Amino acid sequence: MQPAFLLSFRDTVTASDANDDRFILSAPNLNLDMGQFSPGIRSAIRSLLDEEATEEELSDIVLQQEEMSALPQLFYLLQQLTNIGLICQTLKVEGEPMATIVPIAVPYSLEWEQVEPDREYVLSRFACARQEEGKLVIESPLAKARLHVADWRAIAFWGLLATPQKISSISHLIPSLSTEIATTIASLFLSTKILDEATEPQTAIEDTNKTLKQWEFHDLLFHARSRAGRNYGKVGKSYRFLNQIETLPAVKPPMSEEFIDLYKPDIDRLQQSDRPFTQILEERKSWREFDSNTPITIQQLGEFLYRSARMRGFARDRYYEASNRPYPTGGAAYELEIYAAVHLCEGLTPGLYHYCPKDHRLYKIADRTPEVAQLIEIAQQSTAQQNEQQVFLIYAARFQRVSWAYEAIAYSLILKNVGVLQQTMYLVAEAMDLAGCAIGSGNSDLFAAAAGTDYYAETSVGEFILGSKLKVADSR
Ligand SMILES: Cc1cc2nc3c(=O)[nH]c(=O)nc-3n(C[C@H](O)[C@H](O)[C@H](O)COP(=O)(O)O)c2cc1C
Repeated sequence: MQPAFLLSFRDTVTASDANDDRFILSAPNLNLDMGQFSPGIRSAIRSLLDEEATEEELSDIVLQQEEMSALPQLFYLLQQLTNIGLICQTLKVEGEPMATIVPIAVPYSLEWEQVEPDREYVLSRFACARQEEGKLVIESPLAKARLHVADWRAIAFWGLLATPQKISSISHLIPSLSTEIATTIASLFLSTKILDEATEPQTAIEDTNKTLKQWEFHDLLFHARSRAGRNYGKVGKSYRFLNQIETLPAVKPPMSEEFIDLYKPDIDRLQQSDRPFTQILEERKSWREFDSNTPITIQQLGEFLYRSARMRGFARDRYYEASNRPYPTGGAAYELEIYAAVHLCEGLTPGLYHYCPKDHRLYKIADRTPEVAQLIEIAQQSTAQQNEQQVFLIYAARFQRVSWAYEAIAYSLILKNVGVLQQTMYLVAEAMDLAGCAIGSGNSDLFAAAAGTDYYAETSVGEFILGSKLKVADSR
């Protein structure tokens, strides 16, 4: 049976003025003129703004002023406010709060699922616990609400459920937790998808679902929280650190004093001489084998970077320095820095270089150190080819260029930008008759060690290999 929850407004809900008769109930997704409701309902809502109450207590407030016939309107209003995620529900045990259900998706409704004490239940592999603003949060991307847990016994109980257990056989392990209370907490966990029923032999039901089985924990959490839907609050550009933290400049300052100015092609001439766009698009493919006898030259590398990734000029966002380049990027923030781990390039000594898109230069930041050699070796392994790599391009994100302005979607935006740059490079490589191939994974710790960057401020998020085409064998 669903317990009698204490209801409370989430902290974004306010009343617009102190006038009891006609106040406006406000929240980011609501402006409700309470003047349209009866005095009893207005009093009940006003009281709920001040302190939490059960539905029964709110009904009593209405009944002090009105007949029973006013109650359906109260219940309907509470239901509507719950649906748009404005009402939290707190489970109290022996007069103390145990946990609060906080909606994160709209439309929201709680479907109470009662556990049976003698059946087995197990923690969902999607559930996770963390601290947020001094509250212990347990959540799962499967659920449309998260829990704020106030009582340590609920957490202790949680900890006992890593393997399938009957609620009746573990409740006694926690002091002062009766089977009845344990059953209520377990039902709360089950209703918020933190707990799952276990089937034979000792498997969570979610693991018998072929679709869910193929989701990894981190991927589903990332998906749920980086899209609107299961994500209460702002999703998108909110300039969340405006007036708090300085923005990073559009152009990363030089990383060394040793630089090489690169060749700049004549874009007007290329517009006349390039093969037609459709031909380039149709002939584009992933080339993983390179011609070691005639490797890519520094002039070709210069032309390639100029055509795909140079900075064409500054642009202005309202609050940060933006820029303009041949490939598009969310918010024109251009957080991706391009590094070249060079193994074989005529005119360029092996090592690690940082590309400055504004000055169209390569700054040398390391020789062929063991870390740089390992980066190149990983590129080699990623293509499952034997022949020698030439230039391994690594995209490293200056994360805060994006996360300063964007909420919820910053990292997903960065990964989208990686795809955009990879496709631009594919097309430029094809236009120049060079071999190129996107790479789907890389070692971000190794990159940070090789380039000397702070993993949390800037590290690799995407890769692309580049070289001269080995034309004798078709690598498709
Ligand atoms: C995001 C992304 C990651 C990729 N990762 C790899 C990789 O790690 N190794 C590889 O050999 N090819 C990789 N590729 C190339 C794909 O295998 C290739 O695009 C696909 O097989 C289609 O072939 P095509 O590019 O020749 O049309 C990747 C492509 C993309 C877009």
